[in-house]
Amino acid sequence: MNKIWSGHLKGGLNKAAESFNSSIYFDSKMYKEDILGSIAHVKMLSKTAIIPKESSEKIVTSLLSILEDLENKVIEIDYSAEDIHSFIEALLIERIGEEGKMLHTARSRNDQVALDTRLYTKNKLIGLKQLILELIDVIVKKAEEYRDVIMPGYTHLQRAQPILFSHYILSYAFMLERDYKRIEDTLKRLNSSPLGSAALAGTTYPIDREYTSSLLGFSSYSLNSIDGVSDRDFAIESLSTLSIISMHLSRLAEELILYSSWEFRFIKISEAFSTGSSIMPQKRNADIAELIRGKTGRVYGDLISLLVTLKGLPLAYNKDMQEDKEALFDGLDTVEATLFCMKEMLKEIAINKENMEKAAETGYINATDLADYLTKKGLPFRDSYRLIGEIVSYAEENKLTLSSIPLSKYIAFSSLFEEDLYSEIDIRACVEKRRSAGGTGRENVEKQIKYLKEFISKNEG
Ligand code: ARG
Repeated sequence: MNKIWSGHLKGGLNKAAESFNSSIYFDSKMYKEDILGSIAHVKMLSKTAIIPKESSEKIVTSLLSILEDLENKVIEIDYSAEDIHSFIEALLIERIGEEGKMLHTARSRNDQVALDTRLYTKNKLIGLKQLILELIDVIVKKAEEYRDVIMPGYTHLQRAQPILFSHYILSYAFMLERDYKRIEDTLKRLNSSPLGSAALAGTTYPIDREYTSSLLGFSSYSLNSIDGVSDRDFAIESLSTLSIISMHLSRLAEELILYSSWEFRFIKISEAFSTGSSIMPQKRNADIAELIRGKTGRVYGDLISLLVTLKGLPLAYNKDMQEDKEALFDGLDTVEATLFCMKEMLKEIAINKENMEKAAETGYINATDLADYLTKKGLPFRDSYRLIGEIVSYAEENKLTLSSIPLSKYIAFSSLFEEDLYSEIDIRACVEKRRSAGGTGRENVEKQIKYLKEFISKNEG
């Protein structure tokens, strides 16, 4: 395909340079955004009388039919074109002739590509918001289904204190709620149109940027044309938001892998999300969760790659910036697939109540409660902490749990102990007593569920 700049550079590109320079293999994803951007631009050119009304109407009609033909696969992308922008412009000229050549008046590919990439990212991020809401919904439903199941809570991966499974799983819903809001924040800053910045300096034509930006659904337009064409903050900010989402999902994925292992057997990942081994017939591997964890590395890579690409890049447009798209698209697609798989996998996860609760009975995870018991009877916390440490050592040596040490033995440790100590260290009581705001107590878990349900219904569109 002839280059749009071939009038000036007649020699033609070296074959290797041509394919090295081309971006159509990845930017053809933005064909729709490119066409919609062009339609807004051409409507503005007519409104401001920069081009005749009839020509603009002809261009709009033709662009719409190109869009339809691409959507219905009536025509195919010509990969010999330099990029999606020149491909669509050439097609327009091929279809309507001379008037098609008016489209690019008062515009440059520099503001065009900045616009298309923003529009594309905006739509994708809106889709991710919806997926996050759906994942939060699945988590809330799991929490409700297994409301009262007790499990050990961990610090340092050592059994620490008993918690409700619902409290544990809901913690991820709150991370995702912040991710949702982070996307909203990212969208706020992305919501400014670069169209009309032209190559870098603006244009001599009397364009109306207010009009194009409102036609395209932006809330404002960039006030500095150099910044308008050079700014890729929106891509970097999107990738950092995506990296945080991936990080959250990878922590959950890691726990699903761990908790489904033979050593824990707290949960069972359904067959539909497990794979077998080619040699070990007993194996049930959590490949999907492992991949969710694994793909996080590549999303971080996308972010770092773009940060490094832009580091020290002089203003305004440089071809280096063409490298933004593969990283950005990969991050968006990867997180979309990851969120979707996590949501579907989590729906089908079964909880092994017996194993969770058995694990919560052992490991002396009610020791804090026993120390609190003595403190409430008047012993300063540091002293009771030390004494309970001695009792735990005694129990370990004698293969006892804190509940199976006889009262007489307790009294030998301290005369403050009475029969009521046993009900204080009952695992279920330990959970229920944690009524502090944000704690694992049942009432507080209900509050969390209520809050999250309201969050979902408020944002459901
Ligand atoms: N394919 C290019 C990109 O993605 C489009 C912009 C080209 N602009 C230019 N001045 N060469 O960045």
